[in-house]
Amino acid sequence: MNPVESLITEQALKSFAATPDPRFKQIMQSLVRHLHAFASEVELTEQEWFEGIRFLTDTGHMCDGFVRQEFILLSDTLGLSMLVDAINHRHVANATETTVFGPFYIDGMPERAYGENMALTPGEVALIHGRVLDTEGKPLAGVLLDVWQTAGNGMYSGQDVDQPVGNLRGRYRTDANGDFAIRTILPVCYPIPTDGPVGRMLEAAERHPWRPGHVHFMLELPGYRKLVTHLFTQDDPYLESDAVFGVKQSLQVAYEARTVHDTVSAKVGMELPFKQAYYTFVLVSE
Ligand code: BEZ
Ligand code: FE
Repeated sequence: MNPVESLITEQALKSFAATPDPRFKQIMQSLVRHLHAFASEVELTEQEWFEGIRFLTDTGHMCDGFVRQEFILLSDTLGLSMLVDAINHRHVANATETTVFGPFYIDGMPERAYGENMALTPGEVALIHGRVLDTEGKPLAGVLLDVWQTAGNGMYSGQDVDQPVGNLRGRYRTDANGDFAIRTILPVCYPIPTDGPVGRMLEAAERHPWRPGHVHFMLELPGYRKLVTHLFTQDDPYLESDAVFGVKQSLQVAYEARTVHDTVSAKVGMELPFKQAYYTFVLVSE
């Protein structure tokens, strides 16, 4: 940076010198330093600066107060969401890994019984079951599992107004043995929304918008850290190139084709044939 340009950065930094909240001061000064370094490194033109302002304005206009959050989508597609997730959830031995929350969670979805069907739209019938343990291997009873996934058309209920309310969403609980069971349909891979500025960015970069098939989970139990994660479908073609960088090896599950019952599927009353996946979640105590 030449001296005139450095002086601008110094002045902007100094303007935050008396900020009373030390964390706010640190964040704002670091933001100024990195923003200025970025503009200098690429020698940002005035036209590019204005294009950036327009892009962010369009991103804001694309947000609604409900399911569409284009700024989160931008953060996701820049890898920022996964970086923040990694910084805030450094791995604890044995514990289940976290991944991106995504913009399609809806609070207050129906409470569902062990093995209850959450799919009100068609697809390949699947049973996801397993256990929730603590890091010592002790089963945890009464864990709330908030679950959501897309329908066969690749859209979430709420996002797609034609789907029934609560479709492919539900709040399950582990039983006294720490077991849970969810009757659903096989998740499909789907593109993140591309009808806004994030879609334009992906297109300009010749990046695809696809996410591998997955089911979202948020697990909560008092005294334990909240776990936000997904279970990804093994062998999905997009596991290596998730548009939002969310895939982790430990979160991949195989859906086995079943033509005969085991104890769990008989208890749940699954109709044969169906696909079945098993997973053990491990929560960290606070
Ligand atoms: C999702 O998995 O729901 C999602 C995550 C990030 C961006 C868009 C969708
Ligand atoms: Fe998703």
